[in-house]
Amino acid sequence: MSAPEAELVRRFGSPLYVYDEGELRARCRALRNAFAPELADFFYAMKANSNPHLLGIVREEGLGIDAVSLGEVRMARHVGFAPTQISFNGNNVDDAEMSAVRAEGVHVIVDSLAQLARYGRLFPETSVGVRLNPDIGAGHHDHVITGGPESKFGIDVGLARSILEVAAAHRLRIHGLQHHIGSGILDVAKLSLAMEVLLEVAPLFPELDFVDFGGGFGIPYRPLQAPLDLETFGRVATERIERFRAAYSRPVRVRFEPGRFVVATSGSLLVTVTAVKRAKKHTFIGTDSGFHHLIRPMAYGSYHRIENLSNQGGALEVVSVAGNICESGDLFAKERLLPECHEGDVLAIRDAGAYGYSMSSTYNLRPRPAEVLLSSPDQSPTLIRRRETIEDLLAP
Ligand code: LLP
Repeated sequence: MSAPEAELVRRFGSPLYVYDEGELRARCRALRNAFAPELADFFYAMKANSNPHLLGIVREEGLGIDAVSLGEVRMARHVGFAPTQISFNGNNVDDAEMSAVRAEGVHVIVDSLAQLARYGRLFPETSVGVRLNPDIGAGHHDHVITGGPESKFGIDVGLARSILEVAAAHRLRIHGLQHHIGSGILDVAKLSLAMEVLLEVAPLFPELDFVDFGGGFGIPYRPLQAPLDLETFGRVATERIERFRAAYSRPVRVRFEPGRFVVATSGSLLVTVTAVKRAKKHTFIGTDSGFHHLIRPMAYGSYHRIENLSNQGGALEVVSVAGNICESGDLFAKERLLPECHEGDVLAIRDAGAYGYSMSSTYNLRPRPAEVLLSSPDQSPTLIRRRETIEDLLAP
């Protein structure tokens, strides 16, 4: 697999995002298999990766879409998702965007009392979902914890009665409750605890069609990290939800909004070594990419496995892998043991499928990479997004 991978750079250029269709489909199926089909629906959080070809595969696998902006809603519609397969979960949305989203026919989840009242004024006598803050947060970094006292998201779970009052004032039906406590969670207990909080308050809402427990399913980025035990979570959650459903007056469905879990492992960023610098304290492996293409190491100190595809069995050396952006924080890895790197070597930065390309920028006026899909079962490569050009950046 690795020799052909390095070939891709010769054929499609460097740096290059590469995705594995088989892996993407397997992740979708793993999620769906963890729950009985008549119980749970999955809405892929497309902020993790919104490449239209990948979205098409996710659609074929039977997932819906969790969208957070009009742009995401429009993209989901563009690739063929029906309005009923799209859940809109925006934060601090203005009237114009909210109205445009409603006009697309997708259902909406609001995340403040102010937004609920505004929604009621715009669309009285309709159904709407609300996002709760269950006072529990979790995640791989402070910046991605979206529940608990520090979070700007959701309505405090203690304010259930105020939610019902605001809804009543506008004759709104609260037809769904949602939470999303954070991202990169590997601990089943945290996910279960937040679920418990939501299900405890849910009986106060008599007209629910769904309860939505957000995304946040983590993946092990580090070599010896244990994966999320999805099977156990599926079992524990199913048992708890079944108990809730047995006591509730309506046939409530369950939703999850996974992003990272679906796409992270299927993607790699291939970069080429442009310089090896043996400085006083560090050996820097300079590459032709940087945090404009994969910001996670810089933004969250995130660890991504790196392989030297051109020298896999080579003698190991401690190096720091750097990008070509004019900032000192532009490092993919600090003090990492890698097989010796030489100019022209191709490095693969793994698990880059989620929050890689979707968070990329043209900082320093460097164009974005191309994206290639390795189709299953024969791994034949297809260009699924062309490389951006400097001409694109010069365009008005
Ligand atoms: N639902 C909502 C409402 C969200 O805000 C998010 C992610 C998800 C679902 C999906 O979360 P996931 O399953 O991917 O953990 N850029 C960060 C992650 C930010 C996540 C933001 N919200 C990173 O690279 O780690």
